[in-house]
Amino acid sequence: MLINTKKILQHAQQEKYAVAAFNVYNLETVQVAIHVAERENQPVIIALGERYFPTVDVEGFAAFVKALAEKSAVPVALHLDHAYEKESIIRAIRCGFTSVMFDGSAYDLDENIRRTKEIVEIAHMAGVSVEAEIGSLAKGDFSDEEEGDGTLTDPQSAKDFVDTTGVDFLAAAIGTVHGMYKGEPKIDLPLLERIQQAVDVPLVLHGGSGTPDSVITQAVQLGICKVNVNTEVSMAAVSYLQHAFENKQMVHLSTVMADMQQAMEPVMTKFVRLFANR
Ligand code: 13P
Repeated sequence: MLINTKKILQHAQQEKYAVAAFNVYNLETVQVAIHVAERENQPVIIALGERYFPTVDVEGFAAFVKALAEKSAVPVALHLDHAYEKESIIRAIRCGFTSVMFDGSAYDLDENIRRTKEIVEIAHMAGVSVEAEIGSLAKGDFSDEEEGDGTLTDPQSAKDFVDTTGVDFLAAAIGTVHGMYKGEPKIDLPLLERIQQAVDVPLVLHGGSGTPDSVITQAVQLGICKVNVNTEVSMAAVSYLQHAFENKQMVHLSTVMADMQQAMEPVMTKFVRLFANR
């Protein structure tokens, strides 16, 4: 069933687990994410980034995800990830996304608050929940996201931000990166604890890929309710494809896509189990 992201995350917050938000770019990725969630009996968030709007038909994609969600046995949410433009957010709301992320992290705090507040007003009128971010993530290897300066989230600013904007969940920057870490990960868990004490809303961790399991487990105990995962799933698919083509197999595209799905499945399963504390 398609469920509002806020509802899914409130349950996760109460029960101290996190929900996987898998970034998707094609129908294959969506199918594997929902299949894994059903098999593991966990909710899942299907996340489409604004950066994929030029290559993904957003309305058609939303209809597809909603159809799969309706026949799914587990709660499924449809989320717009890292959106910078108001027009993209309105477009996602119009076609039934259950939450949107406005990324105003490149602005100073006051401007981020002003813009986020406006988005919250629009989205809430449509019953859609909103994620926002203060601080930003640096970019590691193999990531497809924007480069950020790696500024960590200040707990007092997080509180002011949440109180003033009315966002439903907050992405906290605590040292994770988008993509694979270039050196040793330096994740500030004591900072996460202070942010969690300062705000009531569910917290989101971006940059799930490459983050050590023990860090994720502790972060979930400290209030992370949603973890975004992109790069590791993409890497599994791409390395399968590289292998297939290196071997110069002249196979049908349908077979390649089916095998690529199989390559993504264990990676998604690993994350879903980790976030569910299993
Ligand atoms: P990774 O690519 O590190 O998994 O991060 C994904 C993400 O945070 C998307 O918003």
